[in-house]
Amino acid sequence: MIEVKNVFHDYDGKGKLAVDDITFSIPRGEIFGFLGPSGAGKSTVQNLMTGLLRLQKGEINYEGKSIRDMDSGFFNKMGYSFEHPNLYTKLTGYENLKFYAGLFSVPTEDPLKLLESVGLASAASQKAGDYSKGMKQRLVFARSIINKPRILFLDEPLSGLDPGTSSVLREIIRRKKQDGVTIFLTTHNMFEADDLCDNVAFLNNGRIVAMDKPRNLKLKYGEKSVKVEYGEKGQVKTEVLFLDKDEDGKRLKALIDTRQIQTLHSQEATLEQIFMKLTGRGLS
Ligand SMILES: Nc1ncnc2c1ncn2[C@@H]1O[C@H](COP(=O)(O)OP(=O)(O)O)[C@@H](O)[C@H]1O
Ligand SMILES: [Mg+2]
Repeated sequence: MIEVKNVFHDYDGKGKLAVDDITFSIPRGEIFGFLGPSGAGKSTVQNLMTGLLRLQKGEINYEGKSIRDMDSGFFNKMGYSFEHPNLYTKLTGYENLKFYAGLFSVPTEDPLKLLESVGLASAASQKAGDYSKGMKQRLVFARSIINKPRILFLDEPLSGLDPGTSSVLREIIRRKKQDGVTIFLTTHNMFEADDLCDNVAFLNNGRIVAMDKPRNLKLKYGEKSVKVEYGEKGQVKTEVLFLDKDEDGKRLKALIDTRQIQTLHSQEATLEQIFMKLTGRGLS
């Protein structure tokens, strides 16, 4: 269990809070999504949780033990990918992983197998500096799991990737979860979050504005509707009916009784729509 309690962060000591009283916890083996637009404070929280930034105020505990008391051995169990790829540009992709693996005092993955799993096998001997943006991102992702971490921090791991690559990485993330890894994922992509996360927190201006399972958020804030397609006089007609409105409920029943229904889809609000509803702003 990871616990973050009443954490604040002020970068320059002038009272402007990048993180403003944040509290959440992540049970072992779950994927927790931290969602919010650029500047919301997502990376700051990750950097505090990984010890990259010194904790100013509040508590961050791993299995009850404060991050302030962790020794370096603890970081052997963690994997991180940062938002900005910090790679050795003169080393090849393979050499980058090999070098990084050497920094750990725990068993590590085979660099070539890792490169293969993220679709970089054929670029293994190419200099990382010559990689495209998406390739660098995949290399950073591969690097984040090289020490077989039990806790994985991923800062916008999928942003800007093409759909094919994104789904390959999402599958690896899911497999890690199945292996019991606890994952903290920051993203401004609500679709990814919905797809992957057990719980999500919406972050806006350094504060959490809602936190729950994606499904519960949709049930709580979304307006549930059904889209009905039916045949009438040789034509296909479509109606959208809201289930919490009495008259729409009656209309739906009447349609089912009297028309030939062709399709019936329930439509849920997307997390993006809910974020808009709660904050009055979008995610980009
Ligand atoms: N190194 C820094 N020094 C000063 N302010 C920073 C620094 N890094 C981020 N900030 C500010 O903190 C706020 C949160 O930023 P960040 O955590 O990077 O948000 P996100 O990852 O959600 O885009 C922003 O207002 C940003 O400008
Ligand atoms: Mg960020």
